Amino acid sequence: MPQSKKKPAKSRVMAHAKFGPMSRGDLPEVARLITLAFAGTMENSTTWVKENGSENIRVLRDGKSIPACLRRIEMGQFFGGRSVPLCGIAGVATAPEARGKGHARRMMEACVREMHDRGEAIGGLYASTQALYRQSGFEQAGHRCIVKVPVARLLGGQKARNVIVLKDADMPRVEACYRRFASAYNGMLDRSEYIWKRVKERPDSKYQGYGVLDERGTLCGYLFMSQPRDSNTGRQDLQLSDIAFTSADAGRQLIAFLADYEPMADSLQLGGGPLHPLLTLLPQQRYEVKLKDYWMLRVVHVKRALEARGYSSAVRGTVDLDITDDVIDANTGRWQAEFADGKARVMKWKGGGRAGVTCTIRGLAAMYSGLYSPRQAAAIGLCSGDETALDLLGGVFAGGTPWMTDHY
Ligand SMILES: CC(C)(COP(=O)(O)OP(=O)(O)OC[C@H]1O[C@@H](n2cnc3c(N)ncnc32)[C@H](O)[C@@H]1OP(=O)(O)O)[C@@H](O)C(=O)NCCC(=O)NCCS
Repeated sequence: MPQSKKKPAKSRVMAHAKFGPMSRGDLPEVARLITLAFAGTMENSTTWVKENGSENIRVLRDGKSIPACLRRIEMGQFFGGRSVPLCGIAGVATAPEARGKGHARRMMEACVREMHDRGEAIGGLYASTQALYRQSGFEQAGHRCIVKVPVARLLGGQKARNVIVLKDADMPRVEACYRRFASAYNGMLDRSEYIWKRVKERPDSKYQGYGVLDERGTLCGYLFMSQPRDSNTGRQDLQLSDIAFTSADAGRQLIAFLADYEPMADSLQLGGGPLHPLLTLLPQQRYEVKLKDYWMLRVVHVKRALEARGYSSAVRGTVDLDITDDVIDANTGRWQAEFADGKARVMKWKGGGRAGVTCTIRGLAAMYSGLYSPRQAAAIGLCSGDETALDLLGGVFAGGTPWMTDHY
């Protein structure tokens, strides 16, 4: 049976340190923490805090000092074709002189409790150290790979027909196209304004958008691209911050558009999963797919998380789940989940008997995303249960390899 192994918080952390929103006067100190944690400049860190909403920054306050901070990003994440409310966490930083005292752990636990109190369903992040985030209930839940394709490998297909340059006024139809594309894959973000901004611009580069239209003039595919040039060779690398398409023809038009850069460009690079529909449209598998990160997920609110995602309408049945959550007491206990018509109905179960599946909140995250089937999760100690219940839950969460384009 999976055991919850809560370690006591380090005694060196001041018990009175408080977690809460940053105030205006905290800006220099928050910018200092971000600069030192991510090796940036004070100027860029200050802009990052100000331009993307200082109301989303949380700090750990210990008297007059701020030993640690993080940023919240409210958005959604697609599972089973539906957008589940997601709070992304970024910019987790502890002042260099305050590290190793349990500040980050304490801050993450408080952050997860805040998410639950706000009614958020799931939390997500990219981890520099998994151990820290596992302590507050996050687990590996999906992939982000870096895909590199020699541009010469794109040659030989059809010609791009209806290409347009994207302008700001096109963003509503770009976003609609992205949602149609992204909702078909478990793990893709339902992007907030913060993430869309990063698609178009990063501190070191700008990305130009191009779209392709179908016969009716509807935007059926697009990409955002920068073209850094090697100063020695003069050759370019095509860097995509985003690519999406809603039909095979649109995908092939985008490939043809990129192939036209072959006289000047050597390689094409994009973020994706171990499987990417763009690669499946290519005739040969002569490219490199390298794992960058497993992103992590936290089921913050068991009932909301299970009821918000979509399911195959072919799956029908009931599973009793025994869940242990060391940070959020309300998640701990027996839950009964009924799955029918592509939806879940979830309630706390007061009856007795043996649970079908027993797991920690981390085990639930790895199964919820579809990264591990319940049988696979059981084999690495993330859950246990009887075979019928494990198989039913496996059918419930099945939906392909979870991945996402974006890093946040
Ligand atoms: C990572 C960071 C936030 C940790 O902050 P901290 O306050 O020192 O962390 P804590 O003392 O709360 O440690 C909690 C757990 O995190 C893990 N951890 C902390 N520092 C670590 C390190 N340098 N390497 C590996 N694991 C580490 C440990 O498992 C630790 O628990 P343990 O000591 O009981 O084993 C801090 O080192 C930092 O700001 N680093 C630079 C920026 C960064 O990596 N941010 C995270 C981006 S996702």
